[in-house]
Amino acid sequence: MTLIAQITDLHIRPAGKKAYGIVDTEAMLRAAVASILAQPLRPDAVVASGDLTDCGLVEEYELLRDCLSPLPMPVYLIPGNHDRRETMRQVFGRDGYLPADGEHLHYTVEHLPLRLIGLDTVVPGKGHGEIDAPRLDWLKARLEEQPDRPTFVFMHHPPFPTGLQHMDSINCRNAEALAGLVRRHPNIERVVCGHHHRSIQIRWAGTIGSVAPSVAHQVVLDLMPHDDATFTMGPPGYHLHLWAPETGTITHTAFIGSFSGPHPFLLDPDYPAFDDKEAAPATHS
Ligand SMILES: [Fe+2]
Ligand SMILES: [Fe+2]
Repeated sequence: MTLIAQITDLHIRPAGKKAYGIVDTEAMLRAAVASILAQPLRPDAVVASGDLTDCGLVEEYELLRDCLSPLPMPVYLIPGNHDRRETMRQVFGRDGYLPADGEHLHYTVEHLPLRLIGLDTVVPGKGHGEIDAPRLDWLKARLEEQPDRPTFVFMHHPPFPTGLQHMDSINCRNAEALAGLVRRHPNIERVVCGHHHRSIQIRWAGTIGSVAPSVAHQVVLDLMPHDDATFTMGPPGYHLHLWAPETGTITHTAFIGSFSGPHPFLLDPDYPAFDDKEAAPATHS
């Protein structure tokens, strides 16, 4: 069994600065870390699928490192359009999983039952992403190494439509070629992404494509065409991906915050299965 916590779109700013003048992204990431630490089943790893910082500044990555430091499990980062590869490497390169040279910050994680492939979709200076020929070749070679092993591909820009049309215009380009490659590898459990700041799932390329909500601000849920995206301080969250050989991957959305409960299910005598002695109380939900 493997449990992966996926956090995304952290948009960390230098200490004391809010993103867009509104979002206290440091406090929100610290709350996300506390929520992961409070999970009864502790994740084996955390992946952060891009927009780690808002501007790619060294002080933002250093603050990010500090925010993530309470996590005892490995944390794997990939860049988004708000990141800068060179400063990310400068601050996190010593962790050992990022490639020391080469243009892209791609890598695989091999020590878990579930194989993780981090894919760098960044096009410097652009909001959209891309899987160009060199990146496609790199992924193809990695997938051909272990064609039967359950695998997660995580990347920042979704290569599939989401219905948020203003966001889809800055998706991952050359997605048709990526879909063709993914379709030839049914061992891919999920293609998990960020960038859209909402929880989204789609059947795509013979697997499941998903986007995790941001641990900070959310893109407004509006499926009508728009020129501009707007954000809301709706409930932040993250995804928990639970993989086991018998079940494959099950994905849950965890919301971050203080909520009333847990409360017991005290059954009303009028409940239709009140006399069902075979069922455990906890199943009466
Ligand atoms: Fe973002
Ligand atoms: Fe993004």
